[in-house]
Amino acid sequence: MKGIVLAGGLGSRLHPLTKITNKHLLPIYDKPMIYYPIQTLVDAGIKEIMIVTGGNNAGDFLKLLGNGSHFGLKHLNFTYQAQEGGIAEAVGLCEYFAGGEKVIIILGDNLIQKNLKKDVDKFEKQQDGAMVFLKRVRNPGEYGVAETNNKKIIKIIEKPRKPKSDLAVIGVYLYDNRVFDIIKTLKPSRRGELEITDVNNAYISRGEMSYSILKGGWADAGESIDAYNNTINFVRRYWKNKTGKRSGK
Ligand code: DAU
Repeated sequence: MKGIVLAGGLGSRLHPLTKITNKHLLPIYDKPMIYYPIQTLVDAGIKEIMIVTGGNNAGDFLKLLGNGSHFGLKHLNFTYQAQEGGIAEAVGLCEYFAGGEKVIIILGDNLIQKNLKKDVDKFEKQQDGAMVFLKRVRNPGEYGVAETNNKKIIKIIEKPRKPKSDLAVIGVYLYDNRVFDIIKTLKPSRRGELEITDVNNAYISRGEMSYSILKGGWADAGESIDAYNNTINFVRRYWKNKTGKRSGK
């Protein structure tokens, strides 16, 4: 299975911090934000990773990440999204890289405490279709929200005004290779983006979507300036630092 980290977009919810640099290069405690999602993929056993970047300072990713040796990788791939065309558009740029394999996608501003290896291995070996992770949150209206019935997702609504559940869809998606055909059928949403939620709803309507409730910490550091600062504090206090030392406290 191939891994994709999405680090494009304009990060406008973090202005003015992101006026002159890319959101994913900002620090989260002792590391740049993008280190966390890359480490999540590496810990899940993914060896081939594509970084999709765009917006400000795209060249700095190369300088920061090089060939990925900091993460024990032999090689890292990079591509560039010319405009903020949406998460699904960014994924669509990786069809050639995926080479017919399944893919795991992680949003570059999502920090996940749990090791996802078991779920990833299971999906790779046993399952076609798609899988997402859900997390109960206090502010579901900021996310894609899953409506469930009999332990099945029946629909995901992107940032609903009146959420029908408190189950946020977090920014990790596992897909079989048909995801690239689905993306080609999408139309831009009202905000002019190809939405990942539309990809997920396409799998749901085919009856090919499964999910797991995520245990442990999760943060969308790009959701707001408060979320960004809360993420830094949370990582400092509670997360075991990936270099092995317990950070903060
Ligand atoms: O964090 C989870 C949420 O992420 C999900 O619950 C939502 O369903 C999903 O749409 C997404 O919502 P956000 O509003 O947080 O997405 P955002 O625009 O912040 O983009 C998330 C990441 O995707 C961001 O770190 C950069 C990358 N991205 C985004 C866009 C719009 C790209 O690489 N290219 C893009 O065009």
